[in-house]
Amino acid sequence: MIYKNLFPATEENIRRAAEIIKEGGVVAFPTETVYGLGADALNPKAVARIYEIKNRPSFDPLIVHVCSIDMARNLVSEIDDISLKLMERFWPGPLTIVLPKRNDVPDITTAGLKTVALRMPASQIALKLIEFSERPIAAPSANPFGYVSPTNAIQVAETLGNRVDIILDGGKTEFGIESTVVMYHEGNLYLLRPGALEVETIERYLNLKVLEFKGNPRLSPGRLPKHYSPKADVRILNDWEDYFKSKAVYGRVGLVLLKRKTVFGFKEVIYLSEDGDVKEIAYRLFDSMYKVDRMGWEKAFFQRVEEVGLGRAIMNRLKKASGIAD
Ligand code: TXA
Ligand code: MG
Repeated sequence: MIYKNLFPATEENIRRAAEIIKEGGVVAFPTETVYGLGADALNPKAVARIYEIKNRPSFDPLIVHVCSIDMARNLVSEIDDISLKLMERFWPGPLTIVLPKRNDVPDITTAGLKTVALRMPASQIALKLIEFSERPIAAPSANPFGYVSPTNAIQVAETLGNRVDIILDGGKTEFGIESTVVMYHEGNLYLLRPGALEVETIERYLNLKVLEFKGNPRLSPGRLPKHYSPKADVRILNDWEDYFKSKAVYGRVGLVLLKRKTVFGFKEVIYLSEDGDVKEIAYRLFDSMYKVDRMGWEKAFFQRVEEVGLGRAIMNRLKKASGIAD
């Protein structure tokens, strides 16, 4: 299959993509986490196209990508000391910080919230795109709403196709799982979404416990229970008996295992790593979900990981894929 809007992320093509952003177009581009679907964050019409292309409900706010802390300052009414410390330490990188927005950030970008989620990505391609377009770029993950986040350009092309003005191909993304989202509020730092930056790393740096956010899911709709899911019915493997029972009832049932050594002799098996390394598991997780659908499995049993470090983000995505609220 040839995609006419898919281009290698050369300097020249990044400049072309930046022009498209300036003109109000929509560009898919790699970040170090997953691919994003970007538009000028301050242009409501351009942002509206993101929602349209993704079929994203209007209550789900976008992350705004910046290429400097100064650019971030221009979008918010204030930056508290904790958020500033986090920016200085972890940007560029997979950390998104929610702050009170300025009035000129359009409501559609933040889905009507009075806050805006900001992130400075570490990918050179993403940074150049923001720099060349001289604008903050609003970008959710580049997948149809509710589906799995893409970690390579082909996955974007296959699911969003020609609806995007240009897709910059920068190969496979470094982390393979989305950024960690936090928000500081009245003396506490809250975790809105576990992600590629481990919560423990933030806690150690600040010497502060990061609290679970238990509030209204409307304040962070990424917390909706069903999300990030492939077409196949995802189950978390608790019991081998469930797996064997399913095999008797369904046509194609497969296993997604953490490491190669665990079991053998099964036909429908995907391994997420050679030896159980969580970084590798996170890197391959979404890819394995695309693969499950490509192979036409009806049901996929995923082995669980321990919920510490990156394991928290992995289990969060698995629970969402299987429709279990976290
Ligand atoms: O790694 C990432 O974060 C990727 C890349 C492209 O940067 N982006 C991404 O965007 O995952 P998206 O739209 O799939 O997820 C954005 C998350 C959602 O959970 C959303 O609810 C939350 O950020 N969010 C955005 N704005 C918010 C706000 N003002 N308050 C609270 N949560 C917000
Ligand atoms: Mg997403």
